[in-house]
Amino acid sequence: MPQNLSPVDKAKFAAASRAVDFVEAGMRVGLGTGSTAAWMVRILGARVRDEGLKIAGVATSARTAALARAEGITVVTLDEARWLDLTIDGADEFDPKLNLIKGGGAALLQEKIVATASDQMIVITDAAKEVAHLGAFPLPVEVIGFGLQTTRALIEEMIEALDVLGRKVTLRMNGDTPLVTDEGNRILDLHLGRIGNPGQLAMVLNQVPGVVENGLFIDICDRVIIGHGDGGFEMRDIITGAVETGRIDFAESGNIFADLGH
Ligand code: A5P
Repeated sequence: MPQNLSPVDKAKFAAASRAVDFVEAGMRVGLGTGSTAAWMVRILGARVRDEGLKIAGVATSARTAALARAEGITVVTLDEARWLDLTIDGADEFDPKLNLIKGGGAALLQEKIVATASDQMIVITDAAKEVAHLGAFPLPVEVIGFGLQTTRALIEEMIEALDVLGRKVTLRMNGDTPLVTDEGNRILDLHLGRIGNPGQLAMVLNQVPGVVENGLFIDICDRVIIGHGDGGFEMRDIITGAVETGRIDFAESGNIFADLGH
């Protein structure tokens, strides 16, 4: 039952639920990765099954694709969809300009390609991800395996000259071995503390040979929906400046929780 959910899950559910209201029949929808995005996929799946909603989903990771298919959502490749109406995804941090750090779930490359290929990106999150300045969350950078230590040294040298607080770089591990992304690459996490100029850092990082993409999403997100543990949410639109608040009725979502066996 919904009342058994933790406050954090209620917050994620509330944000995801409001975001799914933006999905209309016929849309091509980017499906994000992570625990908040997983709620969105489940809620969207319930609409597909209950309302017969016809959409095509483009997943940002193999695990999101598997969940979406299990939920009954039609999953197509980005090359099949070409361009998307809307992407809904989580984030690890967001700042007042709705610039993001993403990639805590190692899916930043596909997430960034999909979000960039969308008319609109909505980020769904809980309040803990809001920051005045990006950088407390380690910035993920996807790099190729060849010359990994050289790429790492080049990044360390490059950030010496930039406006950041910390400069430690670590290789993301999966147990005893380096984590391998869906695209067969590695992740370096940059422990920067505070990023003075995220736009500059994003551009400079991508100039380093061996870097495939970085987890800074600059001027990509249009709206953020912040969920709260009591089912309330706040939605901010970066373009219009509009703010909407509301509350999700968990009772109306009973079928989703029944499906999950909660
Ligand atoms: C996945 O690579 C990330 O970008 C996720 O969007 C991010 O880590 C948020 O995940 P949660 O919703 O699980 O916090």
